[in-house]
Amino acid sequence: MKQLFDPVRLGELDLSTRFVMSPMTRSRAGAGDTPTELHALYYAQRASAGLVVTEGVQPSPAGKGYCRTPGIYSQAQVSGWREVADAVHARGGRIVLQLMHCGRVASPINKEDGSEIVAPSAIRANARIFTDVDGLVDMEMPRALDTDEVPMVVREYREAAVNARKAGLDGVELHCSSGYLPMQFLSSGTNQRTDRYGGSVENRIRFVMEVLDAMGAAIGFGRIGLRVCPGLTYNDIHDADPAGTYGALFENASKLGLAYLHLVRRTIGGMDNLELARNHWRGRLVLNNDLTPELAAEAISAGIADAVSFGRPYIANPDLVERIRQGIPLADFDASRLYTAGPRGFTDYPAAT
Ligand SMILES: Cc1cc2nc3c(=O)[nH]c(=O)nc-3n(C[C@H](O)[C@H](O)[C@H](O)COP(=O)(O)O)c2cc1C
Repeated sequence: MKQLFDPVRLGELDLSTRFVMSPMTRSRAGAGDTPTELHALYYAQRASAGLVVTEGVQPSPAGKGYCRTPGIYSQAQVSGWREVADAVHARGGRIVLQLMHCGRVASPINKEDGSEIVAPSAIRANARIFTDVDGLVDMEMPRALDTDEVPMVVREYREAAVNARKAGLDGVELHCSSGYLPMQFLSSGTNQRTDRYGGSVENRIRFVMEVLDAMGAAIGFGRIGLRVCPGLTYNDIHDADPAGTYGALFENASKLGLAYLHLVRRTIGGMDNLELARNHWRGRLVLNNDLTPELAAEAISAGIADAVSFGRPYIANPDLVERIRQGIPLADFDASRLYTAGPRGFTDYPAAT
């Protein structure tokens, strides 16, 4: 277990331990999709993680898919994130903001009036999404982005990364999983474009590479993480050859000097995506998914991962690091309050230490 508590450096990010808090959407944003004082409290409570990754945050109104998710494009949102960053830093923690553009995974009911649902191609996700007004609803048909609009979306990510730094956050993580916009560009099932952003693997990885390049040039590549789960089919996402697509993405992204690759480990269709990452990614690796302290310690001591991330255990165990250090049993969370507004099931889980 000892190595779990050792410090590690991921790019420009100095972590006090190998523990990372995995990004989790909690749907608590206030009016104008702003983070509130509840967010500052929630993340401060969890600041003993070596690195906190925030919930998914939309870089633009069009990036919003779910209800009550916060953004990072308005002044009020930047001010709200400033409170969060200050609260985490005051407790000695590090925090990066996860940028989540949902693309076609969206309902207009969850979005501001007039903000569109856009995607690489006009292909509807055959899946449902929760709304406060109508409960679960079918997802809508997106509008395919024109070729000259794609660089504008890239610029939105760049601005969002700049705003994250203005707010005092330590960096950003690009959400490139769960069937959202970057994964929609990568995957052959959702990307049927005939321009330079579609078709060949080189073209399908272009959007993600341009986003990483633009953000890195603005805030430094060592402050950027990349989150992936090759082979995942969540939100009706399909790729004919995930090994080929992500192999190429990893080879290219390895040249950038990013802070880390955040891998949600799965074996899908006979492919262990950790093997794929180990074969093609050269850089720091944060390993996620269903880890126990024992599995996490093994991954660190075997040199498979540089850090390990925990999601669900952080919901009801704000002092997860100390609990594991002291062998204190972990508390269970209330699943009925994962996405409800207000403090209950969010900031009211006590520390045990
Ligand atoms: C309530 C909830 C919300 C989540 N929201 C996000 C998110 O916004 N971005 C993301 O990349 N992953 C999200 N995830 C996935 C987690 O980051 C993590 O990958 C997953 O829970 C598996 O890790 P675990 O076994 O330690 O919980 C979410 C998971 C949960 C339980």
